[in-house]
Amino acid sequence: MPIAIAPVSANDVEVIAALARVVWQDAYPAIITQAQIDYMLAQRYAAPRLLEELATPGLWWDRATVDGTLAGFAATQLTATPGEMKLDKLYVDPARQRLGLGGALIAHVAARARREGCATLILAVNKQNARAIAAYRKHGFTVRESVRVDIGGGFVMDDFIMERSV
Ligand SMILES: CC(C)(COP(=O)(O)OP(=O)(O)OC[C@H]1O[C@@H](n2cnc3c(N)ncnc32)[C@H](O)[C@@H]1OP(=O)(O)O)[C@@H](O)C(=O)NCCC(=O)NCCS
Repeated sequence: MPIAIAPVSANDVEVIAALARVVWQDAYPAIITQAQIDYMLAQRYAAPRLLEELATPGLWWDRATVDGTLAGFAATQLTATPGEMKLDKLYVDPARQRLGLGGALIAHVAARARREGCATLILAVNKQNARAIAAYRKHGFTVRESVRVDIGGGFVMDDFIMERSV
């Protein structure tokens, strides 16, 4: 399966947001409420927010395509801790999961982290998200700590912070 990974451009913003909704509706109803899904999608994938992030230094959006069709995406950013990069988003089309796309995107962002002089890649994952935790373990991440973050709207994120060296 030929996978192409390239930077997200302004033209991709609508299809990225549409794929995010498909993946979230597949993955999260068993984990968080529909109200929280809608709140977080609106907060994170509104076009102005995505366009602002595409123009932000130290923040990268990557898309993975198969046969020219968007199949997944990742967003990474430098954190306030020197030498550390955060994999902030990793989403793969449910129809294309378990085919190595997630691993390919992780390898891609790990290479960037090395180029940027980082030693560590971190991420936050919901404690109930067994599918993603299994994928992250497979790709070398281990749990560093447990956090509960208030994201407004009466919602919290109950996450593990996972990390791996790059
Ligand atoms: C996490 C995610 C990005 C992984 O992408 P992927 O393309 O499936 O990843 P890979 O093919 O590289 O790795 C697949 C591995 O993930 C784990 N995995 C994936 N789906 C699984 C499932 N339904 N049950 C158990 N383990 C699963 C397994 O370890 C699997 O390896 P295996 O197929 O050899 O057993 C994808 O499952 C996804 O988009 N999930 C929904 C959104 C999400 O939770 N994103 C992470 C937010 S923090």
